[in-house]
Amino acid sequence: MELLKSDESGILRAAQLLLEGKTVALPTETVYGLGANCFDLSAVTRVFEAKERPTFDPLIVHVSEELIANTKSDTWVEALNRLGLLDALSLTEKTRDQMEKLMRIFWPGPLTLVVPKLSKVPDLVTAGLPRVGIRMPKHEVARKIINAAGVPIAAPSANRFGRISPTQASHVVQELDGRIAAVVDGGPCAVGVESTVLLMDPLTLLRPGAISAHQISETLNEIIHPPGSSRGLPQGLSPGTLASHYAPRKPLVLLPMGFFETGKSGKELFALAETQLKKKNADPKGAVGLLLWDGRQVEKMNTAIEKAGLSPAVRIEILSRQGDVEEAARDLFRAMRTLDDDSRIQWILADSCPHPTGLGHAIHDRLTRAAY
Ligand code: TXA
Ligand code: MG
Repeated sequence: MELLKSDESGILRAAQLLLEGKTVALPTETVYGLGANCFDLSAVTRVFEAKERPTFDPLIVHVSEELIANTKSDTWVEALNRLGLLDALSLTEKTRDQMEKLMRIFWPGPLTLVVPKLSKVPDLVTAGLPRVGIRMPKHEVARKIINAAGVPIAAPSANRFGRISPTQASHVVQELDGRIAAVVDGGPCAVGVESTVLLMDPLTLLRPGAISAHQISETLNEIIHPPGSSRGLPQGLSPGTLASHYAPRKPLVLLPMGFFETGKSGKELFALAETQLKKKNADPKGAVGLLLWDGRQVEKMNTAIEKAGLSPAVRIEILSRQGDVEEAARDLFRAMRTLDDDSRIQWILADSCPHPTGLGHAIHDRLTRAAY
């Protein structure tokens, strides 16, 4: 696997490999993606193989402002149509306007729109679904690679299926070395959790991310349906909504929101750990690693652990000293991965994110799936 820098020659090499039908991991502002030319069926097949991803899980297609501008279209909807992605004719007038508005406001950025696809997009990209997920990443390096390749790039997160998404080039190496052509190192990702996924019609949040349902709802002055509520999209057809995902190999026990505020402590903690770990054949007395929301939880947690009769934590990862939600999101997957890789640790105890909206909702969603 080639390790490429994010300088001009690295970007050109990445684009060249992509145009040869190879797979290249690239940084985006959310997480690292494993890219392939979205119109090249054998390249897309390689993405599924490298990730050991089941073919029922669709990929997101990435575009850039320059690709859109090159189509010389009046609207971005028209541009996505000319790029061979979006079946604009099948959109209602209303959805067309809503899409245009969301793209102009939130692109480039962590918002994926799920819309009717054109037949030029291989069915494998969309897992046989009639719709394709499209987004325009904000990361400079992603943008430059797409521009240099000159084609939309299909890219799921660059991890093996079901595992923790990579937020640094070294994570990609850990996950996919020997299975892909190259990784471009663009430093750590700024957002840290995957994009918000929105089905356009009916407007449904398929996966929470940095752009909140509230922001989208305010922008469009429409109700956004919660995940799993959409007709024709049963669980499993949008596998970002699979119960278990983004998971460490070790069992992770997630404390319910406000656990300590309700006066609960040692006894309850032991009971919770015992029931959850039993399902995974793990021993609550085994060495534990802590994933904490902020620095202020350390003492409370250590006291509860002691009272519960558990062994003292061998490692503590704090997502944000001050409890800042953006900082926490940025560090979430690195911290999970670090605890997972520490051979002393047998199970992970995580504190719920105390902010249930926006990015906090996205963090809570990932922690819940990791704990499943
Ligand atoms: O931030 C991100 O979205 C990152 C970066 C690389 O862009 N990508 C990412 O891809 O998270 P991935 O493959 O790990 O997640 C894609 C998810 C799918 O699992 C599915 O839930 C949803 O996006 N998705 C994509 N296309 C869809 C479609 N046609 N219909 C329904 N859901 C779709
Ligand atoms: Mg993923």
